[in-house]
Amino acid sequence: MAPLIAINTTAGTGSEMTKFTIITDTSRKVKMAIVDKHVTPTFSINDSNLMAGMPPALTAATGLDSLTHAIEAYVSTAATPMTDALALEAIKIVPKYLPKAYVNGKDMEARNYMMYAQSLAGVAFNNASLGYVHAIAHQFGGFYNYPHGVCNAILLPYVCKYNLIARTERFATIAKALGENVDGLSDYDAALKGIAAIERLAKDLNIPSGFKEMGAKEEDIPTLAENALKDACAATNPRKGRVDDVANIIKAAM
Ligand SMILES: [Fe+2]
Repeated sequence: MAPLIAINTTAGTGSEMTKFTIITDTSRKVKMAIVDKHVTPTFSINDSNLMAGMPPALTAATGLDSLTHAIEAYVSTAATPMTDALALEAIKIVPKYLPKAYVNGKDMEARNYMMYAQSLAGVAFNNASLGYVHAIAHQFGGFYNYPHGVCNAILLPYVCKYNLIARTERFATIAKALGENVDGLSDYDAALKGIAAIERLAKDLNIPSGFKEMGAKEEDIPTLAENALKDACAATNPRKGRVDDVANIIKAAM
């Protein structure tokens, strides 16, 4: 590939520094995830001054995309101690600073921390990959052209609930990293508290509660589910599902 300098303006997708990229086939309405080291930018610039002008809705969507990167990388089947450290740090930062960046885009401390968190999450998922949140979100993005971060934010709690029994201890650690008090709770109950915190954060940032209110149709669920399992991000989800399982996750998120 020709040398590529990527200058990031959101916090963020991580695409300025990862081997992940997306091509949308508009005729088939399919977003194809391409994962190859050759599409990694040669050089990337992250400057939070370039993020100060993001409107609140874009701040929320891209910020929750970062949180999704960190959580999916942390529970991925390809996670390593190194990606864990990066992912957990990002999970700690997002709930503290994303609401601040959302209510006041000129809060440069919040913008800086979100820029840092999205970079950590980017390196984490570049190495540990992602899971069903992204695999399904890509289908909603391709089929209906919905914003990527919004799709992730809607799906994240439902996929976490599905994955819970495969990574109970890890979801309990996520709850703690999110700032929840889990003293005296079992791992399972702590994990549920973490998922509730994720739902609350999305609600606070005015993310739609489901895909129906965005116009998605129940009759499209079988196609969305089938294509999600073919997405490159599905391979590292910690719980392997069949088309029916994925369809049930989508139904719950409608
Ligand atoms: Fe993403």
